[in-house]
Amino acid sequence: MRKRTYKIAALAGDGIGPEVVREALKVLSTVEDKFGFHLEVNEAPVGWSGIDETGKALPDNTLELCRASDSILFGSVGLPDRDASIPKEERPERAALLALRKEFGLFANLRPVRLPSELAHACPLKAERQGDGIDMLVVRELTGGMYFGQPKTTETLDNGENRAIDTMIYSTSEIERIAHVAFQSAQLRRKHVMSIDKANVLENGVLWRDVVTQVASGYPEVTLEHMFVDNAAMQFLLKPTQFDVVLCENMFGDILSDEAAALAGSLGMLPSASLGVTSGEKTFGFYEPAGGTAPDIAGKNLANPIAQILSAAMMLRHSFGENDAAAAIDNAVGAVIAQGLRTGDIFNSQDANARQVGTTEMGDAISEAIST
Ligand code: IPM
Ligand code: MG
Repeated sequence: MRKRTYKIAALAGDGIGPEVVREALKVLSTVEDKFGFHLEVNEAPVGWSGIDETGKALPDNTLELCRASDSILFGSVGLPDRDASIPKEERPERAALLALRKEFGLFANLRPVRLPSELAHACPLKAERQGDGIDMLVVRELTGGMYFGQPKTTETLDNGENRAIDTMIYSTSEIERIAHVAFQSAQLRRKHVMSIDKANVLENGVLWRDVVTQVASGYPEVTLEHMFVDNAAMQFLLKPTQFDVVLCENMFGDILSDEAAALAGSLGMLPSASLGVTSGEKTFGFYEPAGGTAPDIAGKNLANPIAQILSAAMMLRHSFGENDAAAAIDNAVGAVIAQGLRTGDIFNSQDANARQVGTTEMGDAISEAIST
């Protein structure tokens, strides 16, 4: 019988991207053997490495490869030091990352935030605020709102002053589809959705709240609450354990997901999935770690590859339905953390059990934990 085969476009990008993607591919090749499927991996440049090779942050061949693949495993793009050398529209964030989100209709961004008990020291909150552990899923709308709304421009007025315009737009159907993702995710978790808005000021907030409330009626076993975004920013710090699924529009989700990431101790631990519509059995997805390119530590074998490795696990689960293989990766990450392996970002010299390791050692240990 022919093996189950999945085509992956691996776009490592800039900064620490290549180092951490290498570890994720190592781990994927370990599960591939063990769980009996085949991954056809093709690598291509993106971001500044795309600009250096072809003049474009999203080279035509890279985009073609993505179109011909079942999912994208993405590292990170952007080197702020080089930004001034090209127009803002051509920089990797807009020309590659936002362009890929739009191109593939990746409207649902899932960012799970978990603080394992062994890493409680890395969380900036006092132990009593951490309760039994922080465990939330940020569900962020990713292709609407102020990121993409038109008009989006800077114009010069008659009096010579400049005026910048960004436009926040959401339609009912855009809110409905992301709300369904949040409620379906909650069904598999603690069955609570906190929907975030600014309904006291924004028209968008009023519509968001109405539509989410309507969608909730289809999920009677899930409890829905609403919270204003400013209060949510505060509640993340005061009582993070009250959150299970956090549902946000694009801009609020960008801000709150970084805040939530700080609670999990390190950006280096946080994976993400950005999903398009599901057709048949298949969901095209884009999988990337939440942290950026971290140019200061790039190329030094210091980066934490766990976020990238967990992103690969999310790919197996959400795009390919290879749930056992995904769970094996999640468990292996838990096992090496329990053994005390730590990259610099999560290392605590007070912890007698902790041993500092580099990027490749961490990847090796996770691979080994899977194969044994
Ligand atoms: C993120 C990032 C991006 C965003 C940037 C790099 C464009 O912050 O994925 O959260 O704002 O969406
Ligand atoms: Mg962000």
